[in-house]
Amino acid sequence: MKIRVDLSGSAKDNSYDILIGSGIVNAEAAGEVIDVIKQAGLKGRACVITTETVNGLYGRLFKNFLKNARIEPVVLVLPDGESTKSIKYLSYIYDELIKNRFERGEFIIAFGGGVIGDIAGYAAATYLRGINFIQIPTTLLADVDSSVGGKTGIDHPGGKNLIGAFYQPKCVIIDVNFLDTLPERELKNGFAEVIKYGAVLDGEFFIYLENNYEKILSRDKDGLTHIIRRSCAIKADVVNKDEKEAGLRSVLNFGHSLGHAVETLYNYKTVKHGEAIAIGMIFASMVSEDLGFCTGETLNRIKTLIKNSGLPAKIPGFTPVEYINAMKLDKKVESRLIKFVLVKEIGGFVFKELDFDYIHEFLKKIL
Ligand SMILES: NC(=O)c1ccc[n+]([C@@H]2O[C@H](COP(=O)([O-])OP(=O)(O)OC[C@H]3O[C@@H](n4cnc5c(N)ncnc54)[C@H](O)[C@@H]3O)[C@@H](O)[C@H]2O)c1
Repeated sequence: MKIRVDLSGSAKDNSYDILIGSGIVNAEAAGEVIDVIKQAGLKGRACVITTETVNGLYGRLFKNFLKNARIEPVVLVLPDGESTKSIKYLSYIYDELIKNRFERGEFIIAFGGGVIGDIAGYAAATYLRGINFIQIPTTLLADVDSSVGGKTGIDHPGGKNLIGAFYQPKCVIIDVNFLDTLPERELKNGFAEVIKYGAVLDGEFFIYLENNYEKILSRDKDGLTHIIRRSCAIKADVVNKDEKEAGLRSVLNFGHSLGHAVETLYNYKTVKHGEAIAIGMIFASMVSEDLGFCTGETLNRIKTLIKNSGLPAKIPGFTPVEYINAMKLDKKVESRLIKFVLVKEIGGFVFKELDFDYIHEFLKKIL
């Protein structure tokens, strides 16, 4: 099934398709997947950027898939992990693109999780002032979030995602079968972002997740396909309305204010992005209840779904001052205020600028 990311105004030409299916990336691939690739303009040669793990599991299958589509790959295999999203590996990618004389009309294919999507996308956005780019995600987090919407970038020792660009792929191909080998913790990590969409943007979807989380987390293909499809449709809809996060798109940051602080305080080790967002969503829901935007029942439902999904539900025991200092590094901070996304009952949201004094007092109360 196909979802269209329909950008408006001057970005209209950057609109693209997301194709979702099970077993669509294989050596005999035909039909829709080949059509989508062709429509994206992919032909001839492509630079495939992937990780050691993904290459070990799917390298041969992927090469055969490309051969069948008459694409000749130049494969760059990067180490696994967040530290790959760095200037060092970006520089390596540029070196290889230049060495292999890649031209503007040619393609980069990101084949991996969010780390690969972000760095490969940023390389595509900047090499020769922008060459074509395709996302073929292999983690749940990348399927439902990072491969869609065009945020690309790398980390800097001074902070995460500090260097980046909005740069849309020419298409996204999501094969649910890649999730067969994804470690359980990574699956749950991606599920946190799925909960996010339901909690603040689609109440019915949230109920579906409450009723089906066990089935989904035991990798039922129909369940996984449904949540990926719905998440991509929700994200595409938000991105269609606000590509560059001038307003509405910030709703996708639900759980991110405290979540990013948690990631910072753990030094981007120990805790994964989705896990930190799960903690952040609970915190944002507690604040929502405190300020009267949602009931205790709403807070409980969000907390219960997070807990039942095996995601962390307890706010780590850093001090309020440590949290505040980490939050001040956030891109969404202006003077003494931080822009929070709060839940307005399940499926609804409200933006609220919160004062650090209030957050400090609230943290003191709950920690
Ligand atoms: N651009 C965006 O809009 C956006 C949104 C959310 C997160 N992100 C970024 O995404 C990154 C996190 O992405 P992630 O959670 O996918 O992590 P990741 O890319 O590090 O992948 C997690 C691990 O799973 C392995 N893996 C990938 N696919 C596999 C498979 N099919 N089977 C077995 N192992 C597999 C990877 O090699 C890696 O070791 C962060 O850097 C975050 O900042 C970006």
